[in-house]
Amino acid sequence: MFIDVARANILEVYRTLVEVVTPRPIAWVTSVDIAGRVNLAPFSFYNAFGANPPAVVFSPVLRRDGSKKDTLRNVEATGEFVLNAAVEALAEQINLSSKELPYGESEVTYAGLTLLPSVKVKPPRVAQSPVHLECKLIQIVTVGQGPLAGNLVIGEILAIHIEERVLDERGHVDPRKLRTIARLGGDYYARTSDLFEMKRPQ
Ligand SMILES: Cc1cc2nc3c(=O)[nH]c(=O)nc-3n(C[C@H](O)[C@H](O)[C@H](O)COP(=O)(O)O)c2cc1C
Repeated sequence: MFIDVARANILEVYRTLVEVVTPRPIAWVTSVDIAGRVNLAPFSFYNAFGANPPAVVFSPVLRRDGSKKDTLRNVEATGEFVLNAAVEALAEQINLSSKELPYGESEVTYAGLTLLPSVKVKPPRVAQSPVHLECKLIQIVTVGQGPLAGNLVIGEILAIHIEERVLDERGHVDPRKLRTIARLGGDYYARTSDLFEMKRPQ
């Protein structure tokens, strides 16, 4: 199969992209609007891109009608967000929180979750998630215009919370305890329970 992107349908390109760029980590983002109302949504166009300062990027694309998703509107308005670890035990809730509720209605209640206050930013943390990254906005890079156009939300991590229950005896995060999930194409997800180790070449 060959896809000439210039001639292809945007929806088809999007579907193919998420099928081939896999597995993708999931940013489970809490944000607040100007009135302090909490929003929660997952974004798998996501990764970390450096540690000095620690930087993350996720991308809420524009909706099919070209409008901005609530998370993007909130981050633009307040400049803050929290990334909650997307773990296997919360898969159902992560999926529920992707429902498009009217602006200002919280996916937290809808998904049966509870919140904890953050230390450095206004958006709260999802209490059930074992890891939280408190972030402030560095910059939003708009990539294109119209339906499904990307918006790279670049953030600096100000604080990291990790629950003891996912640490090993050295104080490192144990992937067998954390059990993050990842996004593939279609409705597929991947677990991180099938691990293997490999030493870097000397
Ligand atoms: C696992 C998962 C990953 C997702 N990744 C993205 C993404 O990277 N970018 C995006 O725009 N939407 C993504 N979505 C869809 C959004 O979560 C969905 O549009 C959500 O309603 C946006 O919420 P908001 O309007 O409250 O910000 C994803 C959905 C799921 C279930």
